[in-house]
Amino acid sequence: MNDRVLVFDTTLRDGEQSPGVRLSLDEKLEIGRQLVLLGVDILEAGFPISSPGDFQSVNTLAKELKGVTICGLTRAREKDIEVAAEALEPAERRRIHTGLGVSENHLRHKLRMTREQALEVGVNAVKFARQYTDDIEYFMEDSGRADLDYVYKVVEEVIKAGATTINVPDTTGFTYPNEYYHLIKGIIENVPNSDKAVFSCHCHNDLGMATANTLAGVMGGARQVEVTVNGIGERAGNTALEEVVMALFIRHDKFDVGTKIDTTQLLPTSRMVSRLTGMVVQRNKAVVGANAYAHSSGIHQDGVLKERSTYEIIDPKLVGAEKSEIILTARSGRHGLKHRLAELGFNYTDERFEGIYDAFVKMADTKTEVKEEDLRELVR
Ligand code: KIV
Ligand code: ZN
Repeated sequence: MNDRVLVFDTTLRDGEQSPGVRLSLDEKLEIGRQLVLLGVDILEAGFPISSPGDFQSVNTLAKELKGVTICGLTRAREKDIEVAAEALEPAERRRIHTGLGVSENHLRHKLRMTREQALEVGVNAVKFARQYTDDIEYFMEDSGRADLDYVYKVVEEVIKAGATTINVPDTTGFTYPNEYYHLIKGIIENVPNSDKAVFSCHCHNDLGMATANTLAGVMGGARQVEVTVNGIGERAGNTALEEVVMALFIRHDKFDVGTKIDTTQLLPTSRMVSRLTGMVVQRNKAVVGANAYAHSSGIHQDGVLKERSTYEIIDPKLVGAEKSEIILTARSGRHGLKHRLAELGFNYTDERFEGIYDAFVKMADTKTEVKEEDLRELVR
């Protein structure tokens, strides 16, 4: 089993499907360049047949970006695959990502096919795509709600047809971590030719479990994670890249596998994607939120000023932040106030400090935060 987890970024495809988001070609190129700097292994640049604009952006990213595999999404249709192959043609390394649904729900209501028909369509799509590249990823949409025996059959047949990566999407964010773990592990253990492919986690966040499910999938043997920056995507979004990368990094005791992401680029990437998509990152968002390394209560400030690790498991420098922040509020204590006054270069006697502290507490009760200019005013 591979000892590295491949990071497949789909910010520009599944992420761009977020309602309210539209990126121009230049913006996609800017994000694409940043993703290369970040160190993603595969970059899903779009769905080329969906529009001329998407074709052009996949084609331009394929021309411009080096050192990364560029991927294009297709339905399991020859025309889609031909168009994707044309868009991907200039890429240094190209991947075609094709497939279709496997759950009864999708087969009956969306595809209107029997299991056998859908399997044949999928196998033919893989064989057709193989003429353009030997890097074929097959997605089994809505695997999270599908019948396991059918999933095993599909995996076996599409690997025989030439698929090299098998994407197991929990399209509707329905599964629990232990279920997703068993889904991946079950496929690897029960499909006879499973050693011929890499298995990929693609989770959605409808129940807030996308990151947990993805990590459970890695524990089950998956060696690729499909993620978006800040977790943007359809409905409640996709698995957040920064969360999975840092969870694998901080809890390497649990995994023994990591990524090749340059973690110091996580925050700059998050900020860029937020600025260009207009999708605001919630302040308390794990890893990249504005409050992720900020401490406001007196007990926490006292601990963190004595030793950072008392209340921080991630060194902010690791993700590209300058340092932890001490935020002064009505819940802050003397230690935090002294620290901020020292940062501003104020000297005072102990007696005078008590006076400043009393005034600070009164002011803090009237504000959400006592800022630098307030402190200057207080000391004056
Ligand atoms: O969520 C999903 O199933 C997808 C596939 C198209 C890969 O995004
Ligand atoms: Zn998806």
